[in-house]
Amino acid sequence: MSLPVTAEPLPRPLSDADFIQADPKQAALGHQLFYDPILSGNRNITCAHCHHPDFGTSDGLSLGIGEGGVGLGTERHAGTGDSRIKKRIPRNAPGLWNLGARDLHTFFHDGRLSKSDQFGNGFDSPAEEWLPQGLTSLLAAQALFPLVAQFEMAGNPAENEIIGAVHDRIDAAWPILAKRVRTDPKYEQGFVMAFDHIETPDQVTIVEIGNALAAFMAVEWQSIDSPFDAYLRGDKTALTTPQKRGMELFYGKAECAACHSGPLLSDQKFHALGLPPFGPGRTRRFDPYARDVGRMGESDRLEDAYRFRTPMLRNVALTGPYGHNGAYPTLEGIIRHHLNPEWALAEWTPELAQLPEAEWLTATDFVIWQDGREIQRQSLARDIESLTLNDDEIADLVAFMHALTGRNADKTPFGVPSSFAP
Ligand code: HEC
Ligand code: HEC
Repeated sequence: MSLPVTAEPLPRPLSDADFIQADPKQAALGHQLFYDPILSGNRNITCAHCHHPDFGTSDGLSLGIGEGGVGLGTERHAGTGDSRIKKRIPRNAPGLWNLGARDLHTFFHDGRLSKSDQFGNGFDSPAEEWLPQGLTSLLAAQALFPLVAQFEMAGNPAENEIIGAVHDRIDAAWPILAKRVRTDPKYEQGFVMAFDHIETPDQVTIVEIGNALAAFMAVEWQSIDSPFDAYLRGDKTALTTPQKRGMELFYGKAECAACHSGPLLSDQKFHALGLPPFGPGRTRRFDPYARDVGRMGESDRLEDAYRFRTPMLRNVALTGPYGHNGAYPTLEGIIRHHLNPEWALAEWTPELAQLPEAEWLTATDFVIWQDGREIQRQSLARDIESLTLNDDEIADLVAFMHALTGRNADKTPFGVPSSFAP
């Protein structure tokens, strides 16, 4: 039987060989750390608060609630009293599926972490030359950044020794955190057992912590057993008829594979889709107010304004809301936006954003809409052409997105530890 006729060829199937090798003992340590508030300045938040399996390794919110917030996922709220959040997290927490893939070279919505020889430590990152040596993967390097981000895990000035150190220099906080971990009886021996070069707990640095977290995420969330993956491996019965039609559109007339290309379903490049803007943004030096210029904030090139990295799509049905700010609660919504951004922007209403109530932040949440010129700049910067598909075709594309859900996505090797208390 031959493959359907598609304009773009179907990608090759993925296998274990496409992923970094992870040591099981290191992964087990990373599992403990991922769910442990010890890594946060005020010991009140874990990685899992924003990347939880119940919410597809994301948090079910458009813009998340960092340290100071209370609860988990869609129940999470902005906290109370002095410890309440001071700002929303400016971007949507992405799912963590397949981030151990060797071919990945760029992380974050704006690509501010990438593989590079520029600073002699293997990575171009916000820590530049202050990122320590010895991080064995992009994922390991990434794991160090939430720890030193004020609104994610570090906390606010004067609250704890971690954030105090971050304000001196980004790399000053990591040794303090490493000491916290290695002097905790629950971790003392784990590192000695998991890392050949660690003979006594006092040798543990943030590098082993990052490498352990990476080993965990790579093992736990490798997911290449979706119906689409089965189809690519030759099982022609793996897809339903609507899913197959959706796949033909994806690789054909809908031109999705122009950007969601290759085995990982992403070109790892940056494109401006003109999503409805809101939230605190990532303001730059001369920004008068909340806005998010995307890739330009990192590259300083005007042509990169409002561009964001093409997301990979495996398990996308589990990771809503969608887009860099979670503007769309449904797959149908984000797909319709791609097809006709102008129309979608006009139809969009703030109620579509999943933003836990925080009345002291509402003034900032949608302030950008009062600036017609900024909204127009964003519209003009779009790099996606409108395309007409009928409702049945859109439903087929949504069906195909569901064919990307791993059969064992909810039966991962480690799962949530019983000790985890959100
Ligand atoms: C307060 C919420 C929050 C916490 C806590 C948090 N993250 Fe994230 N994470 C995010 C957001 C938001 C992004 C996207 C940021 C961006 O791209 O600008 C992200 C991005 C990532 C990415 C990059 C994914 C990609 O596709 O580029 C990884 C990996 C990741 N987080 C792992 C972790 C780990 C490990 C921890 C704990 C050490 C952690 N996160 C803690 C919210 C959080
Ligand atoms: C011009 C490149 C491009 C094309 C063509 C394209 N996409 Fe995208 N897609 C992106 C980018 C970039 C984003 C993220 C945009 C953002 O966050 O601002 C995205 C986001 C998505 C998301 C949300 C994923 C998430 O995790 O939030 C889905 C689903 C999606 N695209 C499906 C499709 C489908 C289906 C098609 C074909 C109809 C398509 N895309 C065509 C670039 C493209």
